[in-house]
Amino acid sequence: MRILKWMALGFAGLIVLVAGLLGYVRFAMPNVPPADQSLHIEATPQRLERGKYLAEHVVGCMGCHSKEDWTTLGHPIIPGTEGEGGDPVFDERIGLPGTVLPKNITPYNLGQYSDGELVRVLRTGVRKNGEPLFPIMPYQALAQMDQEDMYSLVTYIRSLPSIKNDVPDHSLQPPVNVIVRTIPKDAGPYPAPVDPKDTVAYGKYLVTIGACVDCHTPVDAHHQPIASLYLAGGFEFPYLNNALQRHPGGGVLRTPNITPDPATGIGTWTKARFLARFHEWQGKAGLAKNVHLNLDKGDYMPMMPYREISGMTDGDLGAIYDYLRSVPAVRHAVVRFDAPKL
Ligand code: HEC
Ligand code: HEC
Repeated sequence: MRILKWMALGFAGLIVLVAGLLGYVRFAMPNVPPADQSLHIEATPQRLERGKYLAEHVVGCMGCHSKEDWTTLGHPIIPGTEGEGGDPVFDERIGLPGTVLPKNITPYNLGQYSDGELVRVLRTGVRKNGEPLFPIMPYQALAQMDQEDMYSLVTYIRSLPSIKNDVPDHSLQPPVNVIVRTIPKDAGPYPAPVDPKDTVAYGKYLVTIGACVDCHTPVDAHHQPIASLYLAGGFEFPYLNNALQRHPGGGVLRTPNITPDPATGIGTWTKARFLARFHEWQGKAGLAKNVHLNLDKGDYMPMMPYREISGMTDGDLGAIYDYLRSVPAVRHAVVRFDAPKL
């Protein structure tokens, strides 16, 4: 009997412990330093221009935070929706653990944020109201942006024309709804700016803030990037065509290996070939074609933000190439696309 009593007590203790932990996570997390309310970012023409470049071509804010035409190659932004958020493809159909609609980032929504609160949400993923963002919003990458680039980004976002569009908050499946609270952390001081003349280091900076790693490094069962497969491809976009509501059978797209391995990566690519891969998407030659995807014929949406990235300068793309040559070559063969079963 005694042992039963102890077991019951132990069990009760465990419940109290678990409840306490859940309560802690629910009410005390995320736990990041308060926003700097004394911050006032001066809007200069240089910052506006730099911020536009970063938002449109390096980080891809505008691609995620606008409505896009998902039936056309490169999923172009539907004019007039720039920054209004709410693109409906952001749910289980593209492999997300719930519905996570990108927010409205025009002044209609962000007008209520001070500069300090805006910097805090971009660097830590914690909103003005203290609630955490799901990390498909690349706040962990943005924490590594230098101060001047961050101020430029804020300047540009503030300049967007206001669009009235209310976007519902995310609704995440358990246990992700609890885990998401534990991810935000103090972003710490800004990293020192990298000299663009040091192309390998600058390419690393662009790859980091551009969140290339999020897509080009495969993840384990706990959705953690596998360090030994850094940039070696194989991250999956399941049910891709399902997202376009054409093929209930799904289909899987996997990112390619972009390490310098000659057999399975881009080891044999010259810098000219690398640049050409992006030039083909530039201007009239690529995007104005408005290629309508014929999914029945096996076309697929590449998911790679070619449209955004191809707007980078050749200097920046070249720096990315130089950095990609310097990472460890990983032999990792990836099947790019499994067509949906019709
Ligand atoms: C891969 C898509 C993606 C990219 C790229 C992206 N975001 Fe987001 N962003 C989201 C999603 C999705 C949310 C909402 C997440 C949630 O509700 O949990 C969000 C939320 C936000 C919020 C929070 C707004 C609020 O109401 O609190 C801000 C601000 C924001 N993004 C700005 C940016 C900026 C600026 C950039 C570029 C530097 C950017 N985002 C890049 C997907 C993206
Ligand atoms: C949203 C996910 C995503 C992001 C972010 C992303 N990529 Fe990709 N990338 C892909 C996918 C998927 C493909 C394969 C597309 C295709 O079949 O054309 C791809 C293709 C490529 C290719 C062509 C490789 C080949 O073998 O054809 C290169 C080079 C590349 N990405 C580099 C980058 C760089 C550099 C960045 C960051 C600046 C980046 N990617 C960001 C998903 C992504």
